[in-house]
Amino acid sequence: MAKITKLDDIVSLCKRRGFIFQSSEIYGGLASCYDYGPLGVELKNNVKKAWWKSVVQMRDDVVGLDCSILMHPLVWKASGHTDKFADLIAECKKCNTRSRVDHLNEQAEEHTEHIAIDKAMAAVQDLSNKVCPNCGTVGQFTDPMPFKLMFETQMGANVDDSMTMYLRPETAQGIFANFRNVLDTARVKLPFGIAQIGKSFRNEVTTKAFIFRTREFEQAELEFFCQPGTDEKWYEHWKQARFNWYVDLGLKKENLRFREHDADELAHYAKACVDVEYKFPFGSGDWQELEGIANRTDYDLRQHQRGMRTLNKWFENDQDLTNIELAGEAEDFHKGPLSYFDDEQKTRYIPYVIEPSAGIDRSTLAFLVDAYDEEEVRGETRNLLRFHPALAPVKAAVFPLVKRDGMPETAKNIYNNLKKYFNCFYDEKGAIGRRYRRQDEAGTPFCITVDGQTNEDNTVTVRDRDSMEQIRVSTDQLLNYLREKLEV
Ligand code: GAP
Repeated sequence: MAKITKLDDIVSLCKRRGFIFQSSEIYGGLASCYDYGPLGVELKNNVKKAWWKSVVQMRDDVVGLDCSILMHPLVWKASGHTDKFADLIAECKKCNTRSRVDHLNEQAEEHTEHIAIDKAMAAVQDLSNKVCPNCGTVGQFTDPMPFKLMFETQMGANVDDSMTMYLRPETAQGIFANFRNVLDTARVKLPFGIAQIGKSFRNEVTTKAFIFRTREFEQAELEFFCQPGTDEKWYEHWKQARFNWYVDLGLKKENLRFREHDADELAHYAKACVDVEYKFPFGSGDWQELEGIANRTDYDLRQHQRGMRTLNKWFENDQDLTNIELAGEAEDFHKGPLSYFDDEQKTRYIPYVIEPSAGIDRSTLAFLVDAYDEEEVRGETRNLLRFHPALAPVKAAVFPLVKRDGMPETAKNIYNNLKKYFNCFYDEKGAIGRRYRRQDEAGTPFCITVDGQTNEDNTVTVRDRDSMEQIRVSTDQLLNYLREKLEV
């Protein structure tokens, strides 16, 4: 079990060490928005790098993409977001606080990110005994109403032809919209995937637990296209691959589990869905979603073919989405513009899609919480972050033991050489013990100290963060030694 049991402790560690700050703090802060500080940005970048390496770089069947956040409004009509991406809310008549209806249950298990609005409506219960989470008033709610989750903005300077646009609520749709482009240019053959990491935005009704649920967040999504009939095999493949990724990067296995969605919980497009959950040591419910892996069938590509057929109607309607119905599906939809010609089978079809969709901020939080440790060392508490080397914000710190006898110059030379290969830190201030402790708390795997012996035999001490063991390594072997240990 992680050693941190209160959210406040992780929030204060993150602030103290420059991992994560409240956004716009000098103006009193902006709710549910966060900024990553010097150590935080390195950690988060490393989480993204590790995902990209595992999902794109190490595979021959996945290519990458980086789409724009603003997309044609019809994308969101076709995907169903403009009509269905909403939470069912009710407003407390006493304090005017709006709450998600599905979160009003006393033992609400906040498993699902969102419940499809039609399902939420159908499941609506009597609110007369529900308690307002803000003021505690019982049963004084308005009738439930949908609250749209996409942020709207206007594009264009002219009032007459400015267009309502949406900040994307998921990165996935940019991948579907580029399916044809990738197919035509990247010499890919089914089965293959398209991966993307980027920001998404949702005007969440309830934000919570620090960076766990925010209104601006980053996703790492893969759409893996395959022949219908092989989808269940690929679903199992990605389920295991994604679970193993978290374990390989150091999350303790006992803090991870799968949760398969029940049939009545599945999104209308999904044939199956499983969440990878992490046992966060705070908040309600503990087990919370890190990532969802869904079998989205051929739903999205078919919907975008309908979207493409709606384009003329949209022009006729002054480029306005209001009151536009999505065009029906062509009879020979399986031969449409987003179909795939299978060379081996000599047939055309719309591929099925398996989608592992991970939250970068959420994973970063889980890696932080899981890595945190405290231990007693000679009567003092040592706080440390036992990050996997691939995730550690700083890989090695270099110190002169004292600021004389040429030690700073030698240490600086070593530092200048190492930093060409990985992120390093140089520190000559304060007692050596305190410098070690500072790096322990930042999660730096190795500290290198230049001391009196260095001048005599060209060796330095290398201290291991986890065991605190120190060994001597010759300066000309140092880079190789560290690269082997850090796997960089
Ligand atoms: N394309 C599928 C999709 O977006 P999702 O379950 O809504 O599925 C995927 O989101 C992942 O994105 C979640 O498992 C979570 O890690 C992350 N995520 C979703 N909403 C979030 C929010 N408001 N704040 C932080 N992360 C979020």
